[in-house]
Amino acid sequence: MKFFLDTADLAEIRWAVQAGLIDGVTTNPSLLSKDAGDLEWGDVLKEICSLVDGPVSAEVVAVDEAGMYDEGRKLARIDDNIVVKIPMLEEGMVATRRLRSEGIKVNVTLCFSSVQCLIAAKAGATFVSPFLGRLDDIGHDGMDVIRETRQIFDNYGIETELLAASIRHPRHVVEAALIGADIATVPTSTLKRLLLHPLTDRGLDQFLNDWSKLTARTKANA
Ligand code: E4P
Repeated sequence: MKFFLDTADLAEIRWAVQAGLIDGVTTNPSLLSKDAGDLEWGDVLKEICSLVDGPVSAEVVAVDEAGMYDEGRKLARIDDNIVVKIPMLEEGMVATRRLRSEGIKVNVTLCFSSVQCLIAAKAGATFVSPFLGRLDDIGHDGMDVIRETRQIFDNYGIETELLAASIRHPRHVVEAALIGADIATVPTSTLKRLLLHPLTDRGLDQFLNDWSKLTARTKANA
């Protein structure tokens, strides 16, 4: 399973890249609005692409077909690694087909059902993004969408990558991986928590303690 970082925060992306933990980045208008600071959003995307050796999703804000297509083409010119995020709308599917016919990669976002994921894949999406956490928030089980979409894509040999999005905690990542999602896009706080286990810390403390006893003994005997 690949990990993408779900942020537009450059410091967080630098940290994750140098730690070798991520294979790509996803942004959205809310993340850019929160993280861009005084920088121009296009420059932030350029900088992210220079840091990350992998796909970087950048979302259109138009909601009509021509607007999504035009914005998508402009975003794609920023860098070869840009993947244009298109919302799951009827007009979005037309824009997706047009962008894909020009070789531009598309991530269909705001998917909340497996059939939306199927439609996006049929339109040629490179990635589909079902939002787990937002479904859980309204009392559904977001993981059902991952499970059904995996099954449907496997039934028909669909190569669109299944990108589990709106992840809230490590268990979401584990369950999506067990089902066979291709990618999990995670906020930095979740990525950090994926690294941790209390028994790792306790075990390391014990090893280091025992080692210092051994070295103290060796010194005493010298
Ligand atoms: C995915 O590409 C989205 O940017 C993201 O995962 C949305 O997550 P949220 O529901 O936590 O905003």
